[in-house]
Amino acid sequence: MIHMPGILLDREEWERYEKMNNEDTRMIIDCDTGIDDALAILYALRAPGVSVEAITTGFGNIDVQQAAENTLRLLALARPEREIPVAVGASQALVREPGIYSPHVHGMNGIGGVLLPPSAQQPVSESSAELIVRLANEAPGELVLVTLGRLTNLALALELDPALPGKLKKVSVMGGTVYNPGNVTPVAEANIWGDPEAADRVFSAGFPLLMVGLDVTLKTLITEQHIELLKRLGKPDNLPVIKFMEQTLGHYFKFYREANYVLNGAPLHDPLALMAALQPDLVTTRRMKVRVEQKGEFTAGMVVADLRPQPKVGEYIEVAVDVDAQRAVGAFLSVFM
Ligand code: RIB
Ligand code: CA
Repeated sequence: MIHMPGILLDREEWERYEKMNNEDTRMIIDCDTGIDDALAILYALRAPGVSVEAITTGFGNIDVQQAAENTLRLLALARPEREIPVAVGASQALVREPGIYSPHVHGMNGIGGVLLPPSAQQPVSESSAELIVRLANEAPGELVLVTLGRLTNLALALELDPALPGKLKKVSVMGGTVYNPGNVTPVAEANIWGDPEAADRVFSAGFPLLMVGLDVTLKTLITEQHIELLKRLGKPDNLPVIKFMEQTLGHYFKFYREANYVLNGAPLHDPLALMAALQPDLVTTRRMKVRVEQKGEFTAGMVVADLRPQPKVGEYIEVAVDVDAQRAVGAFLSVFM
């Protein structure tokens, strides 16, 4: 057991965690590679038993070309055992005007201004939606899809293949909020707000879908102390990625301090959605019927959950309503140590 102020890491817990992941999970990550997307990707690359089959990118925190570029550079830094295809996807929402990006949250280049060396790898020629559809059809029922940005790519994939919901083993979505306030408007979370029409189509399509939103991600904080711990105890091979995490999180910590009064920490939004796909008991879930508000002047992008005893509005999805945050943060750190 390692004790530091605010940190309790239990080696037995890590070993149990590693065992739980021994059954191979084949995963596609769909993302808008900003700071927390980058942490999620690094986690997936290091987590035991996880095979990242592809990374599909879309607009969101930054434009889609930058999201793909960040992904390629991150892969070059992390040096996975084999090349992971990276696709370029949607550059704007399904029906809305090209959006506003988030340089105040993620920096001008999406990764907190950190300059990673260029990669020799190029994106594949298929779009993100095409790649998701092809891989799902090649291995029906086997792939877990984790979405960390707008749901535009998945809505486009659904247009290409309406039977897609039955071909994915699981879809874990970072996005939305039911009980918490929003983070871009009083009621909307960024990934849902950025393309509400896409989110509503995806939530209504019958995917085996888990929504991991602000109700749980805001409770799951990585702090400066955690990074200090990683710098001391990280495996030598992981020191380059730990150094990147320290640099990129500097920007994120500053944003969360100034905008949300979080002291020296930031939520693990995207990593938690990915970890919950691998280790479902990190979160408590509740089955809810939901729709996504698309019209309201003040409410566009709100996830409207019908919590009445006899719900009538929307389709059922699983929603994460609570999290074992300490265990989740410990699980995150453990793969780099
Ligand atoms: O609201 C948090 C989400 O918005 C995360 O996916 C983050 O990367 C941003 O896209
Ligand atoms: Ca994201």
